[in-house]
Amino acid sequence: MKQKNEKNYYEFLEITPAAGLEEIEAAYRSAKAVYGDDSVAVYSLYTAEERQEMLTRLGDMHATLTDPVKRKGYDEYLRSTGIARRHDWDVHSVHSGKDIFEEYTEVGAFKDKLSLRQPLTVMDGQDPMVVERYRILYMKLEQAALKNSYKTFAITSSVKGEGKTMTALNLSYVMATEFKKKVLLVESDLRNPTISTSWLDMGRLHGLVDVLKGDSDLRNSINRLEDTNLYFLPARCSVKNSSVLLDSPNMRTVLNKAKEDFDYVIVDSPPILPLADISILSKAVDGLLLVVRAGVTPKDIVAKAVNSLPKQNIIGIVLNGADDAHMKKYYY
Ligand SMILES: Nc1ncnc2c1ncn2[C@@H]1O[C@H](COP(=O)(O)OP(=O)(O)OP(=O)(O)O)[C@@H](O)[C@H]1O
Ligand SMILES: [Mg+2]
Repeated sequence: MKQKNEKNYYEFLEITPAAGLEEIEAAYRSAKAVYGDDSVAVYSLYTAEERQEMLTRLGDMHATLTDPVKRKGYDEYLRSTGIARRHDWDVHSVHSGKDIFEEYTEVGAFKDKLSLRQPLTVMDGQDPMVVERYRILYMKLEQAALKNSYKTFAITSSVKGEGKTMTALNLSYVMATEFKKKVLLVESDLRNPTISTSWLDMGRLHGLVDVLKGDSDLRNSINRLEDTNLYFLPARCSVKNSSVLLDSPNMRTVLNKAKEDFDYVIVDSPPILPLADISILSKAVDGLLLVVRAGVTPKDIVAKAVNSLPKQNIIGIVLNGADDAHMKKYYY
């Protein structure tokens, strides 16, 4: 289906950390002011069957995560898969007793090699509203960051393709260039690493997958986008058993170490489905930003997705793709 609007506008809806159905409903009601009557999430790109399947799966997850007994079993299952598979990866033997950051010194030591294959939306300068949206998003993020001493933010969404990567890239870029923050963008969507495959000229560079497997140290895998304060830790390649790698102690070390050296760490994350990845990641970051593709993701799916997340701060919802005309009406 062709999108109504090719541009990107973002509205940050304030949702409390433990947002329930009512708050999501309220957020959508206020979004209606932006979109106009009945145009919010009234259609879906999914077929009725796909939508039903997603709802059922989210319902199952929600039931699992909210029932203490089932939750315990689920956590044990995750742990056991992790330990069993980790043995296959041999991460422990690679690192036995050795700190993967042994040679890591300071941010200034990183290489300056990265360039983007295509300009970001915020770079094209065609529409100042776009940059303005990201500025507002950053300022909201900063409020949450300062209030709670947050530094690491995972950007996720209910399902695939809602604009996580675009949000992560454009937001990080605005933070680094306009607000002069030292930002690290980590690509943690290891099943679908589009930053590595579509956005960056990776060449022979290493990435997060190599760091997690113990084949490269962090310093050798972080690179700076030329002429900016924006650093990337791309995945480099896709892996099937992403949960195993993300659940490794190395991932927590990466994020903790990054916290020391950067003002902010933005983590381009997998969607909530499949749950394992985001449930692991959400424990490793300070806050979650949920991207909702406006007019595409049905609100019941968003509400279920939010309720499926572990008790972690969802600091806000980014509504991606609001209609141009309605946005203008709203802002002028
Ligand atoms: N507001 C928008 N208007 C038009 N196209 C958009 C908009 N937001 C995202 N897209 C397009 O939708 C596609 C998916 O966007 P993106 O890769 O950012 O989503 P994602 O949530 O990271 O997806 P995935 O789950 O596959 O990683 C891209 O082709 C992007 O250009
Ligand atoms: Mg993506």
